[in-house]
Amino acid sequence: MRKKVAIVGAGNVGATLALFVTNSGLADVVLFDIVEGMPQGKALDILQNTAVLGVRANIFGTNNLDDLAGADIIVITAGLARKPGMRRKDLLMANADIVGGIVKRLTPQCPDAIYIVVTNPMDVMAYLTLMISSVSRQKVLGMGGILDSSRFKTFISMETGASPRDIETLVLGGHGLYMVPLVRFTTVKGIPLSKWLSKEKIEALVTRTREGGAEIVSLLKTGSAYYAPAQSTFEMIKAILLDEKRVLPCSVYLEGEYGVEDVFNGVPVILGKQGLEKIIEIELTDDERKAFENSTNEVKDMIKILREEGKI
Ligand code: NAI
Ligand code: 2OP
Repeated sequence: MRKKVAIVGAGNVGATLALFVTNSGLADVVLFDIVEGMPQGKALDILQNTAVLGVRANIFGTNNLDDLAGADIIVITAGLARKPGMRRKDLLMANADIVGGIVKRLTPQCPDAIYIVVTNPMDVMAYLTLMISSVSRQKVLGMGGILDSSRFKTFISMETGASPRDIETLVLGGHGLYMVPLVRFTTVKGIPLSKWLSKEKIEALVTRTREGGAEIVSLLKTGSAYYAPAQSTFEMIKAILLDEKRVLPCSVYLEGEYGVEDVFNGVPVILGKQGLEKIIEIELTDDERKAFENSTNEVKDMIKILREEGKI
């Protein structure tokens, strides 16, 4: 039987992701949004695109959450996008209501689904999803680290002239200003980055990566990035659908790994058909550990606010 990918939120990220998944032919797609007619229109457009490509795939748009029943993967992109000057924290309360409401409705109808959370603040929304759905931690993943790593790779490629294909890196931590690009594990064709660029230059690229989302927001003015976010989410979907056992940085629920617990944060994991199949723990230096803790504290502070406001 063909797999079913449900995408909640047919805005920039959701619709672009729907295009990628449908074009791949790997699964059928249901695209949901609260705006009447919009997911239907985008789905029909994407379906007509498959005819251009000659791909056999099904996509349909809906305003009815019941149509998502039985989904194998649910991607949550519904919510407000960050506007210029708006911090991730500002989105917290509004998006918690949206994400919480969706998960409450969908969990009974999709008992076997793996959730991929994109909506910001992503690590916190992933935590909310796990708490509300009460599914196992294997089944709730947040997308952030793949995008952040791709930004770091892009900037390294621009600076060194080397193809991003030959660049390996790892960005740990939450999808926020406190993310932790690990320079120590960054190489160009296996050669450490420190052999390619000066310390000052590397620091500048790390800062640009941390501010990568905001840079695009300030250019677009009316929304945030969506092509690379959608592609990053598609990589996760593909790893699950094809049981690829990819090693990818994802936000997952930590139960003592990396010295922290009861929080979502980005770490390298093996992704396969079960969702999160293994958390890979690497030894961090004191500075890296401190940076990781700062990042988890940022997420924990927002979780605390959600608890105080009765959202969890
Ligand atoms: P967008 O504004 O283009 O789309 C959001 C969509 O959600 C809209 O179509 C809206 O109608 C819909 N929506 C609102 N309430 C809904 C509900 N209750 N049920 C279903 N749909 C609902 O925003 P965009 O650019 O697609 O971003 C979506 C989210 O993803 C934002 O929170 C954004 O900050 C986040 N994001 C996260 C990234 C990450 O790395 N984790 C990267 C890029 C975006
Ligand atoms: C980004 O990093 C807004 O989280 C989004 O582009």
